[in-house]
Amino acid sequence: MNAQIDHALEEIRRFRPSPEFAAQAVADEGLYDAARADRLEFWADQARTLLQWEKPFTRTLDWTNPPFAKWFDDGELNVAVNCLDRHVEAGLGDRVAIHWEGEPGDSRDITYAELTDEVKRAANTLTDLGVGEQDRVAIYLPMIPEAVVAMLACARIGAIHSVVFGGFSADSLASRIDDAEASVVITADGGYRKGRVFPLKPVVDEALGKAEGGTVRNVLVVRRGENEVDWNADRDLWWHETVATASNEHEAKGFEAEHPLFILYTSGTTGKPKGILHTSGGYLTQAAFTHRNVFDLHPERDVYWCTADVGWITGHSYVVYGPLANGATQVLYEGTPDTPHPGRWWEIVEKYGVTILYTAPTAIRSFMKLGRQIPHEFNLRTLRLLGSVGEPINPEAWIWYRHVIGGGSIPVVDTWWQTETGAIMISALPGVTDLKPGSAQVPVPGISIDILDDDGTAVEGEGGGLLVATEPWPSMLRGIWGDPERFKETYWEKFGDKYFAGDGARRDEDGDIWLLGRVDDVMNVSGHRLSTAEIESSLVAHPWTAEAAVVGASDETTGQAVVAFVILKASQVSHATDPFEASEELRKHVATQIGAIARPRQVFIVNELPKTRSGKIMRRLLRDLAEGREVGDTTTLADTSIMEVISAQVR
Ligand code: WTA
Repeated sequence: MNAQIDHALEEIRRFRPSPEFAAQAVADEGLYDAARADRLEFWADQARTLLQWEKPFTRTLDWTNPPFAKWFDDGELNVAVNCLDRHVEAGLGDRVAIHWEGEPGDSRDITYAELTDEVKRAANTLTDLGVGEQDRVAIYLPMIPEAVVAMLACARIGAIHSVVFGGFSADSLASRIDDAEASVVITADGGYRKGRVFPLKPVVDEALGKAEGGTVRNVLVVRRGENEVDWNADRDLWWHETVATASNEHEAKGFEAEHPLFILYTSGTTGKPKGILHTSGGYLTQAAFTHRNVFDLHPERDVYWCTADVGWITGHSYVVYGPLANGATQVLYEGTPDTPHPGRWWEIVEKYGVTILYTAPTAIRSFMKLGRQIPHEFNLRTLRLLGSVGEPINPEAWIWYRHVIGGGSIPVVDTWWQTETGAIMISALPGVTDLKPGSAQVPVPGISIDILDDDGTAVEGEGGGLLVATEPWPSMLRGIWGDPERFKETYWEKFGDKYFAGDGARRDEDGDIWLLGRVDDVMNVSGHRLSTAEIESSLVAHPWTAEAAVVGASDETTGQAVVAFVILKASQVSHATDPFEASEELRKHVATQIGAIARPRQVFIVNELPKTRSGKIMRRLLRDLAEGREVGDTTTLADTSIMEVISAQVR
């Protein structure tokens, strides 16, 4: 049976790098050789080559007090200078750093010289507001250039930023402000989303009413939405009256490599979000290294676009720090993919001649749902590399991405990493690695990954296990803000000095790694291990399916049973397929593709799936439904009313 399952999951297509791509590729086999020969020397070399140090380091790693790592700790650098000034000093001041596109269609091109100037002004403003080294600044902004400026201004003066995604509620913002004890909040009156202005400043006002700490002295407000806002003259300041008029002279000093750079809150298995702490030298080294090598960045000619919001780790490492450290030219887009029309993203690719696109499988699958005619209306021929992040990309979506968006022959890299890892950990290197749709493939050079069973024994062959990092890495989290015990418990208790990622994974016979979803999403059906991701992949491979989510529901007979929630493609719905018939067909399909053991107990045909604002499906809520319980906490859903709609359909 297991052999049958494995066989069905084995995606047989392999794509060798084209000789033309390989000939110009940034990465080469030598990176793996160098990292294998001396991992620490490899990272030291990257840190020296990719970054500018005010004071060179002599120590690479201090791991004498695990799990508290120190990288390059006797060196000093300024992260903002690495992202800005040094490029200007190298004569690249006129290069566009950001092609910014507002949702209503307004746009701005900002050069490295201009961005540097603006960051210096903002740094002076923050200093004037009394923000000092190690002080926390909360940033609650839409995807406008000021978000990047605010982050870099903090970095420049050694303050710690805590970016809170603009879609989070006043409550979430308040608890994050309190936990970090932020003294300043940087926000906007509002931003554009789905053709409308969504208010931000009013949410900040509400949050500050709720925050118990009373730590916030000032709110700095960018004018963007032009919506009405209340004003507290003792506390609130306009960006255009302070930053815009501040001096653009600012001498940046070097900070120790382990100086904290930012806190970013992420949800764990329990209710309270964790403030993941990242520091400077190691973080920037790995962000820059992976951005250059995984995306094959040629900064002098590429136009790079990562569609993530700066409110998430992908926005931190692959919109702000990685690309700017590498002197890249990038697109920053404020709005939603389908405003004012469903081809908006592809219009932007055409407008700026985007060459590298980095996005999430959930977006790719939504585009698949809409059909290929939409991207086909635009010229996407400038694209030469595609990236994916955030969840396993099912082979069908991988192939669609490569063919419909990429024109059929360009590399697609599936990158595995986490808020905690800070930067990409597992990915193919384009031009070097043969690509395998559905697999994240291999650890990046200098990263040590293993798959262990519950007792810490390495899982050999194709059996699944728990993904761990066996050696510290430069961009690893340095802790959970204010909670060292939770840091140890969550990640280090299980396997001692090995980092427990919380993901299931397996290795195929080529040594390629397949991610199987969070371990809490792994099901055990009649003693067989099944992954939600695997069954979802099978479901979406069926021509009728647009999207699918699978949960393991407790079952008297089999321990757990597979329950699936499926959205049918619009074309299928218009053919008035009977939901009962569709559900039977899909159950059969999974049984044939994977094996009878994987046949879902139920397939519910629904119109929507519960998603967080970052697009992740909240399987926990679906499990509640599948197990006939009252649906749990829905506050992190993008649309909190969705569960009622789904419940009604399931009944
Ligand atoms: C999942 C996002 C499979 C994984 C950068 C991880 C992935 C969690 C992939 C982290 C991928 C991310 N393939 N799963 N390529 N990338 N994940 O912190 O479960 O928002 O633990 O960081 O997303 O999510 P986070």
